[in-house]
Amino acid sequence: MTWTNSKDTALRARAEAVIPGGMYGHQNVALLPEGYPQFFAKAQGAHLWDSDGNRYLDYLCGYGPNLFGYGHAAINKAYIDQLELGDTMTGPGGVMVDLAERFVSMVAHADWAMFCKNGTDATTMALVIARNYRGKKTIVRAKGAYHGAAPWCTPMAAGITAADRANQIFYDYNDVESLEAAVRAAGDDLAAIFASPIKHDTFIDQEAPNPAYAARARTLCDEHDALLIVDDVRAGFRLARDCSWSLVNVKPDLSTWGKAIANGHPISALLGNDRARAAAAGIYATGSYWFSAAPMAASLVTLKLIADSDYLERTQALGERLRAGLTSASQAHGFSLRQTGPAEMPLITFDEDPQLAKGYFWTSAMLKRGIYMHPWHNMFICAAMTEADIDHTLEVAEDAFKAMRGAASLEPATKLLKMAEAAALQPL
Ligand SMILES: Cc1ncc(COP(=O)(O)O)c(C=O)c1O
Repeated sequence: MTWTNSKDTALRARAEAVIPGGMYGHQNVALLPEGYPQFFAKAQGAHLWDSDGNRYLDYLCGYGPNLFGYGHAAINKAYIDQLELGDTMTGPGGVMVDLAERFVSMVAHADWAMFCKNGTDATTMALVIARNYRGKKTIVRAKGAYHGAAPWCTPMAAGITAADRANQIFYDYNDVESLEAAVRAAGDDLAAIFASPIKHDTFIDQEAPNPAYAARARTLCDEHDALLIVDDVRAGFRLARDCSWSLVNVKPDLSTWGKAIANGHPISALLGNDRARAAAAGIYATGSYWFSAAPMAASLVTLKLIADSDYLERTQALGERLRAGLTSASQAHGFSLRQTGPAEMPLITFDEDPQLAKGYFWTSAMLKRGIYMHPWHNMFICAAMTEADIDHTLEVAEDAFKAMRGAASLEPATKLLKMAEAAALQPL
């Protein structure tokens, strides 16, 4: 089928009139190459269909939630069965206790669980609990790390005041000296150290946590009677069947979860240990939909699949296959890729591409050939992908590299660069 986007174009024109800016947040495609569809019609397994009927093998996985494949039958059945019994009721279903028990049995540092809707709910609740723990205020967190869209952490400065950002000190991820300096600057007011499980910032190379840095974050929290928080919203259960920092043998006091925990059904979680239990019990945290039973039933089945299937080894092996194949295909055409992050959460950029001209051309060429990739955000491998899907991606990539080699010129990602400049003018 030939790629067209007339329906998407028409929807966007209507959206301009009734949705501010036409779209907002991370799913606004304004900062992606020309032609990326804004609206989708359906999703199944590892594939997405846009409003014009174009089908894509989807390497974004809904920005993380799709772990076992869109529309997974057993997960959806649990959701629908619970929906028919009762979902958003005057109180939670018993399934909430089942789910909390399941999380506690799977995540080694956790003695309890609380549930909410979005990752930002969980990270914000973690921050409030950390401040309630000993009445201290200062949060130490890594520069450039994403923890959500609340005023205390949104990456954009618009509408945010200095007061919203008060009591935060920043360090460089993986840099023990910088972390120690930030903790020193907090003096006797350290409430928590926030850490992403891996460095998965946008645009730049991803990094695994240095074990010495992770271990030092733990001892600093112990020395200062502060809480260590790992934000596993994006990477949770993508790297391990436990908290991601189990891979470096560090147990946080709190961890935040979302995205993959219910394969796309709306639920997030905050897990904690006994040290943080009283502080957690003491805050006021709630939401009209936080106790809905159907997403909890979906999460329960998702967690069983996480525990009992080989999804982790499979997604890792598929990611390695993709990485190795792309390295040889790019080299054969004279391009040098930067492929960083865990293979199952890859970020793919190009060497010598400061204006993202290569990245934009290549991902756009992939898109028009039915492969949905992102030029500056980490992607995800889902367990519904097959070796044949990866091999097909590699064939398409070959063609896209060829098209790029033959292109007369490559356009810099001007819109994106302008926005980055504007954001840099407004210190957070
Ligand atoms: C590491 C991390 N923390 C927090 C969040 C916020 O989650 P949500 O968008 O569900 O509020 C995200 C979302 O991408 C994330 O990647």
